Amino acid sequence: MQKKLVVFTGAGISAESGIPTFRDANGMWGKYDAMKLASVEGFEEDPQAVLDFYNARRKNLLEVQPNHAHLVLAELEKQYDVTIVTQNVDNLHERAGSNKVLHLHGELCKVTSSRNRLDPNCIKDYPLDVPIRIGDKAGDGSQLRPYIVWFGEYVDNMDEATRFVKQADIFVVIGTSLVVYPAAGLVNYAKQEIPKFLIDPNDLKGGLPMGYQHIKATAVEGVDELVWRLEELEK
Ligand code: OAD
Repeated sequence: MQKKLVVFTGAGISAESGIPTFRDANGMWGKYDAMKLASVEGFEEDPQAVLDFYNARRKNLLEVQPNHAHLVLAELEKQYDVTIVTQNVDNLHERAGSNKVLHLHGELCKVTSSRNRLDPNCIKDYPLDVPIRIGDKAGDGSQLRPYIVWFGEYVDNMDEATRFVKQADIFVVIGTSLVVYPAAGLVNYAKQEIPKFLIDPNDLKGGLPMGYQHIKATAVEGVDELVWRLEELEK
Protein backbone atom coordinates (compact mmCIF):
# COMPACT_ATOMS: atom_id res chain seq x y z
CA MET A 1 0.00 0.00 0.00
CA GLN A 2 1.40 3.37 -1.00
CA LYS A 3 1.36 6.20 1.55
CA LYS A 4 -1.17 8.95 0.91
CA LEU A 5 0.66 12.17 0.07
CA VAL A 6 -1.70 15.14 -0.11
CA VAL A 7 -0.41 18.41 -1.55
CA PHE A 8 -2.33 21.65 -1.13
CA THR A 9 -1.22 24.28 -3.64
CA GLY A 10 -1.82 27.97 -4.27
CA ALA A 11 -0.73 30.60 -6.74
CA GLY A 12 2.92 30.41 -5.59
CA ILE A 13 3.48 27.06 -7.30
CA SER A 14 2.65 28.58 -10.69
CA ALA A 15 4.58 31.82 -10.13
CA GLU A 16 7.77 30.43 -11.68
CA SER A 17 5.74 29.40 -14.75
CA GLY A 18 4.98 33.10 -15.23
CA ILE A 19 1.48 33.29 -13.74
CA PRO A 20 1.39 36.14 -11.20
CA THR A 21 0.19 35.43 -7.65
CA PHE A 22 -2.58 37.50 -6.07
CA ARG A 23 -1.16 39.16 -2.98
CA ASP A 24 2.62 39.49 -3.51
CA ALA A 25 4.20 42.71 -4.80
CA ASN A 26 3.04 42.80 -8.47
CA GLY A 27 0.21 40.44 -7.48
CA MET A 28 -3.06 40.40 -9.40
CA TRP A 29 -5.14 41.94 -6.62
CA GLY A 30 -2.68 44.85 -6.33
CA LYS A 31 -3.38 45.76 -9.96
CA TYR A 32 -7.03 44.78 -10.30
CA ASP A 33 -10.07 45.16 -8.08
CA ALA A 34 -11.03 41.67 -6.95
CA MET A 35 -14.55 42.72 -6.07
CA LYS A 36 -15.12 44.09 -9.59
CA LEU A 37 -13.53 41.16 -11.44
CA ALA A 38 -14.17 38.18 -9.21
CA SER A 39 -17.66 38.52 -7.80
CA VAL A 40 -21.19 37.95 -9.08
CA GLU A 41 -21.98 41.61 -8.39
CA GLY A 42 -18.99 42.70 -10.47
CA PHE A 43 -20.12 40.43 -13.33
CA GLU A 44 -23.65 41.82 -13.22
CA GLU A 45 -22.34 45.37 -13.20
CA ASP A 46 -19.74 45.06 -15.97
CA PRO A 47 -19.76 41.62 -17.62
CA GLN A 48 -17.45 42.77 -20.42
CA ALA A 49 -14.70 43.79 -17.98
CA VAL A 50 -14.95 40.44 -16.19
CA LEU A 51 -14.92 38.44 -19.43
CA ASP A 52 -11.94 40.48 -20.72
CA PHE A 53 -10.04 39.70 -17.49
CA TYR A 54 -10.70 35.96 -17.65
CA ASN A 55 -10.27 35.72 -21.44
CA ALA A 56 -6.79 37.22 -21.02
CA ARG A 57 -5.96 34.73 -18.25
CA ARG A 58 -7.34 31.86 -20.34
CA LYS A 59 -5.24 32.88 -23.35
CA ASN A 60 -2.16 33.31 -21.16
CA LEU A 61 -2.51 29.71 -20.02
CA LEU A 62 -1.64 28.62 -23.55
CA GLU A 63 1.64 30.51 -23.29
CA VAL A 64 2.94 29.06 -20.00
CA GLN A 65 4.35 25.66 -19.09
CA PRO A 66 4.35 23.53 -15.94
CA ASN A 67 7.54 24.12 -13.95
CA HIS A 68 9.86 21.76 -12.09
CA ALA A 69 7.61 21.86 -8.99
CA HIS A 70 4.54 20.66 -10.91
CA LEU A 71 6.67 17.99 -12.61
CA VAL A 72 8.20 16.68 -9.36
CA LEU A 73 4.73 16.34 -7.79
CA ALA A 74 3.61 14.29 -10.81
CA GLU A 75 6.77 12.16 -10.55
CA LEU A 76 6.05 11.44 -6.87
CA GLU A 77 3.09 9.30 -8.03
CA LYS A 78 5.66 6.55 -8.66
CA GLN A 79 6.18 6.24 -4.89
CA TYR A 80 3.07 7.69 -3.29
CA ASP A 81 -0.67 7.82 -3.68
CA VAL A 82 -0.64 11.56 -4.48
CA THR A 83 -3.68 13.83 -4.36
CA ILE A 84 -3.32 17.49 -5.31
CA VAL A 85 -5.86 19.87 -3.82
CA THR A 86 -5.35 23.18 -5.58
CA GLN A 87 -6.75 26.68 -5.28
CA ASN A 88 -5.34 27.38 -8.72
CA VAL A 89 -7.55 27.72 -11.76
CA ASP A 90 -4.74 26.90 -14.21
CA ASN A 91 -4.21 23.38 -15.57
CA LEU A 92 -0.47 23.09 -14.92
CA HIS A 93 -0.75 20.17 -12.47
CA GLU A 94 -2.68 18.15 -15.06
CA ARG A 95 -0.28 19.12 -17.84
CA ALA A 96 2.66 18.04 -15.67
CA GLY A 97 1.05 14.60 -15.42
CA SER A 98 -0.66 14.59 -12.02
CA ASN A 99 -3.64 12.26 -12.17
CA LYS A 100 -5.65 13.21 -9.09
CA VAL A 101 -6.23 16.98 -8.99
CA LEU A 102 -9.10 18.58 -7.11
CA HIS A 103 -9.74 22.23 -8.00
CA LEU A 104 -11.32 24.23 -5.19
CA HIS A 105 -11.73 27.54 -7.03
CA GLY A 106 -12.71 26.34 -10.50
CA GLU A 107 -10.87 25.93 -13.79
CA LEU A 108 -10.03 28.40 -16.55
CA CYS A 109 -10.49 25.75 -19.24
CA LYS A 110 -14.18 25.30 -18.38
CA VAL A 111 -17.30 27.42 -18.70
CA THR A 112 -20.67 27.24 -17.02
CA SER A 113 -24.10 28.83 -16.65
CA SER A 114 -24.46 32.25 -15.06
CA ARG A 115 -27.89 31.16 -13.77
CA ASN A 116 -26.63 28.05 -11.95
CA ARG A 117 -22.85 27.74 -11.81
CA LEU A 118 -22.99 24.20 -10.42
CA ASP A 119 -25.45 22.73 -12.96
CA PRO A 120 -23.49 19.68 -14.21
CA ASN A 121 -25.24 19.90 -17.60
CA CYS A 122 -23.82 23.36 -18.17
CA ILE A 123 -20.20 22.81 -17.08
CA LYS A 124 -18.20 22.28 -20.28
CA ASP A 125 -14.61 22.31 -21.48
CA TYR A 126 -14.07 25.40 -23.62
CA PRO A 127 -11.06 26.08 -25.85
CA LEU A 128 -8.69 28.53 -24.19
CA ASP A 129 -8.07 30.41 -27.43
CA VAL A 130 -11.79 31.12 -27.93
CA PRO A 131 -12.86 34.16 -25.92
CA ILE A 132 -16.13 33.96 -23.99
CA ARG A 133 -18.32 36.71 -25.46
CA ILE A 134 -21.42 38.50 -24.27
CA GLY A 135 -24.32 36.68 -25.91
CA ASP A 136 -22.65 33.25 -25.77
CA LYS A 137 -25.14 30.94 -24.09
CA ALA A 138 -24.78 28.09 -21.62
CA GLY A 139 -26.91 24.93 -22.00
CA ASP A 140 -29.75 26.52 -20.00
CA GLY A 141 -29.87 29.60 -22.22
CA SER A 142 -28.18 31.91 -19.70
CA GLN A 143 -25.05 33.95 -20.40
CA LEU A 144 -21.94 31.76 -20.46
CA ARG A 145 -19.43 32.55 -17.69
CA PRO A 146 -16.04 31.21 -16.65
CA TYR A 147 -16.15 28.18 -14.35
CA ILE A 148 -14.50 30.08 -11.49
CA VAL A 149 -15.52 30.36 -7.86
CA TRP A 150 -15.92 34.07 -7.23
CA PHE A 151 -15.76 35.80 -3.85
CA GLY A 152 -18.87 35.02 -1.85
CA GLU A 153 -19.63 31.86 -3.86
CA TYR A 154 -19.87 28.41 -2.35
CA VAL A 155 -16.79 26.16 -2.56
CA ASP A 156 -18.66 23.01 -3.43
CA ASN A 157 -15.89 20.43 -3.05
CA MET A 158 -14.56 21.41 0.38
CA ASP A 159 -15.96 18.21 1.94
CA GLU A 160 -14.06 16.06 -0.53
CA ALA A 161 -10.89 18.11 0.02
CA THR A 162 -11.23 17.85 3.80
CA ARG A 163 -11.64 14.09 3.54
CA PHE A 164 -8.41 13.81 1.52
CA VAL A 165 -6.48 15.94 4.02
CA LYS A 166 -7.80 14.00 7.02
CA GLN A 167 -6.64 10.73 5.42
CA ALA A 168 -3.17 12.01 4.50
CA ASP A 169 -0.06 10.17 5.74
CA ILE A 170 2.07 13.15 4.64
CA PHE A 171 0.75 16.66 3.95
CA VAL A 172 2.48 19.37 1.94
CA VAL A 173 1.40 22.98 1.41
CA ILE A 174 2.98 24.96 -1.43
CA GLY A 175 2.68 28.65 -2.32
CA THR A 176 -0.45 29.88 -0.61
CA SER A 177 -0.86 32.84 1.71
CA LEU A 178 -3.57 30.90 3.63
CA VAL A 179 -5.85 33.91 3.84
CA VAL A 180 -8.77 32.78 1.67
CA TYR A 181 -11.33 30.65 3.48
CA PRO A 182 -12.67 28.03 3.54
CA ALA A 183 -9.69 26.63 1.57
CA ALA A 184 -7.08 27.93 4.05
CA GLY A 185 -8.75 25.99 6.85
CA LEU A 186 -7.58 22.71 5.28
CA VAL A 187 -4.22 23.02 7.07
CA ASN A 188 -6.01 22.31 10.35
CA TYR A 189 -7.42 18.95 9.26
CA ALA A 190 -4.17 17.04 8.76
CA LYS A 191 -3.54 14.48 11.51
CA GLN A 192 -1.34 15.78 14.29
CA GLU A 193 1.22 12.96 14.13
CA ILE A 194 1.99 13.03 10.37
CA PRO A 195 4.88 14.92 8.73
CA LYS A 196 3.69 18.29 7.43
CA PHE A 197 5.72 20.60 5.19
CA LEU A 198 5.08 24.10 3.89
CA ILE A 199 7.07 25.45 0.95
CA ASP A 200 7.03 29.23 0.59
CA PRO A 201 9.90 31.70 0.14
CA ASN A 202 8.22 34.12 2.54
CA ASP A 203 6.96 34.02 6.11
CA LEU A 204 3.19 33.86 6.16
CA LYS A 205 1.39 36.87 7.64
CA GLY A 206 -0.68 34.62 9.88
CA GLY A 207 2.44 32.69 10.99
CA LEU A 208 3.42 29.08 10.32
CA PRO A 209 0.56 26.72 11.17
CA MET A 210 1.37 24.49 14.15
CA GLY A 211 3.37 21.32 13.45
CA TYR A 212 4.56 22.37 9.99
CA GLN A 213 8.19 22.35 8.81
CA HIS A 214 8.85 25.46 6.74
CA ILE A 215 10.94 24.88 3.62
CA LYS A 216 11.72 28.52 2.99
CA ALA A 217 12.29 28.46 -0.74
CA THR A 218 10.44 28.97 -3.98
CA ALA A 219 8.36 26.06 -5.22
CA VAL A 220 10.96 25.09 -7.85
CA GLU A 221 13.82 25.04 -5.31
CA GLY A 222 11.71 23.75 -2.45
CA VAL A 223 10.45 20.56 -4.09
CA ASP A 224 13.98 19.17 -4.32
CA GLU A 225 14.42 19.77 -0.59
CA LEU A 226 11.00 18.15 -0.07
CA VAL A 227 12.04 15.03 -2.00
CA TRP A 228 15.19 14.82 0.11
CA ARG A 229 13.16 15.11 3.34
CA LEU A 230 10.71 12.46 2.11
CA GLU A 231 13.64 10.13 1.41
CA GLU A 232 14.92 10.75 4.97
CA LEU A 233 11.50 9.76 6.34
CA GLU A 234 11.69 6.40 4.52
CA LYS A 235 15.12 5.54 6.03
P1 OAD B 1 -1.65 34.47 -2.77
O1 OAD B 1 -1.22 35.42 -3.83
O2 OAD B 1 -2.54 34.99 -1.70
O3 OAD B 1 -0.39 33.85 -2.05
C1 OAD B 1 0.70 33.36 -2.80
C2 OAD B 1 1.70 32.72 -1.87
O4 OAD B 1 2.72 32.17 -2.67
C3 OAD B 1 2.37 33.67 -0.88
O5 OAD B 1 2.43 33.08 0.41
C4 OAD B 1 3.77 33.88 -1.46
O6 OAD B 1 4.75 34.09 -0.45
C5 OAD B 1 3.98 32.54 -2.15
N1 OAD B 1 4.93 32.57 -3.27
C6 OAD B 1 5.29 33.60 -4.06
N2 OAD B 1 6.16 33.20 -4.99
C7 OAD B 1 6.36 31.88 -4.79
C8 OAD B 1 7.16 30.89 -5.42
N3 OAD B 1 7.93 31.16 -6.49
N4 OAD B 1 7.11 29.62 -4.93
C9 OAD B 1 6.34 29.33 -3.85
N5 OAD B 1 5.58 30.22 -3.22
C10 OAD B 1 5.58 31.48 -3.69
O7 OAD B 1 -2.29 33.21 -3.53
P2 OAD B 1 -3.28 32.08 -2.95
O8 OAD B 1 -2.99 31.80 -1.53
O9 OAD B 1 -3.25 30.97 -3.92
O10 OAD B 1 -9.11 32.79 -5.51
O11 OAD B 1 -4.67 32.82 -3.06
C11 OAD B 1 -5.83 32.16 -2.69
C12 OAD B 1 -7.00 32.58 -3.57
O12 OAD B 1 -7.10 34.01 -3.58
C13 OAD B 1 -6.83 32.22 -5.02
O13 OAD B 1 -7.22 30.89 -5.32
C14 OAD B 1 -7.74 33.19 -5.71
C15 OAD B 1 -7.41 34.44 -4.93
O14 OAD B 1 -8.44 35.38 -4.88
C16 OAD B 1 -9.97 32.83 -6.51
O15 OAD B 1 -9.68 33.18 -7.63
C17 OAD B 1 -11.35 32.42 -6.13
